[in-house]
Amino acid sequence: MIRPEAWKIHNPTGRHRVIATKRLVGTRWVELLAAHDCRVEVYDAEDMFGEEDLIAAVGERCDGALGQLNEPWNERVLTRFSDAGGKVISSYAVGVNNIDLAAATRLGVAVCNTPGVLTEATAELAVALVFSAIRRVAEGDRYMREGRFEGWLPSLMLGRQVAGRTLGLFGAGRIGQSVARSLAAGFGLDVLYFNPHPRPELEAYVADLAVVAKKHGHRLPSIRRTEDVDELFREADLVVLLSSYTPQLRHLVDARRLGLMKPAAVLVNASRGPVVDEAALIAHLRAHPEFTAGLDVFEFEPRLVDGLTDLPNVVLSPHTGSATLESRSAMATLAALNCVGALHRWPANTSVPTTELAADPTRQLVPSLLNAKELSWPAG
Ligand code: DGY
Repeated sequence: MIRPEAWKIHNPTGRHRVIATKRLVGTRWVELLAAHDCRVEVYDAEDMFGEEDLIAAVGERCDGALGQLNEPWNERVLTRFSDAGGKVISSYAVGVNNIDLAAATRLGVAVCNTPGVLTEATAELAVALVFSAIRRVAEGDRYMREGRFEGWLPSLMLGRQVAGRTLGLFGAGRIGQSVARSLAAGFGLDVLYFNPHPRPELEAYVADLAVVAKKHGHRLPSIRRTEDVDELFREADLVVLLSSYTPQLRHLVDARRLGLMKPAAVLVNASRGPVVDEAALIAHLRAHPEFTAGLDVFEFEPRLVDGLTDLPNVVLSPHTGSATLESRSAMATLAALNCVGALHRWPANTSVPTTELAADPTRQLVPSLLNAKELSWPAG
């Protein structure tokens, strides 16, 4: 339930009314909005916004909104937003599956996100989940806290090795490529990836790594793209899900595909929860204690499917992929620039890395406007 007293107003005389459904990290974002003539209404509490809450927050007049990835910016909300004069939804995330992009475009509402600045943070968490799952880090931590450690034992917390195995990467966008680079460079993993387009730059990177590895007598990593999703699940020792979400991907990982995986494989989901059929995953984890999983996102987020927390062979993380101070601060700057830029009709950025725009917010470009082409927005 949203509480009226939790709203805090910055720059009350600003001409453009902008709502932010959460306080973002740092202060630069709110300063940027205020400096560009925005009255910023920030919901300074942790309550989650549902459909009615968004409609109430938009009210009779609203020019822009800084929204969160778990809010339903559906056609009904967007229509009310547009009727209130809304011009831009600036999401504090890279994934925008919670926003009806087609409806926004029909209504002439710009939709913006924060790519680039969260790549390394999200890749780091995906890699952390791989290691936590396969080397039983969270389980070991619980064991210690429960006072059960009575001394070193030959097979205590026996896990499996990551080095030299095969990474199956589902989704080789920025984040997926960063995961592949770090695991191939750091631990000599072979990379098998599924992505709509080939990634020649990633393939060249791994080929160069192999040259260096050969020179120094290390294991040579390899890379190959597959167009067969089942092959990826069959061949990989660790499958990392990092694709952006569309409804077609719901339950991509179901009982059948889990059945294709190696008995001691690892599955990491840092994409969106519904990609994995969690009931099937629980059954699989129960039937194969040597199979492990690491989840940063959940099918019915924030609710967990019954039985998940009882299993020792799964590591759970509360959707913290991008949760580093560096990343969240830069995302806040981009979210503010996206909003300001869209309200002032700055050109849509097509040439400058978003990391540069976040570091130097003086460039008058909308950093990442997803429906720029459809809205015939000028490019810059
Ligand atoms: C996003 O921004 O979409 C990711 O879920 C961050 O973890």
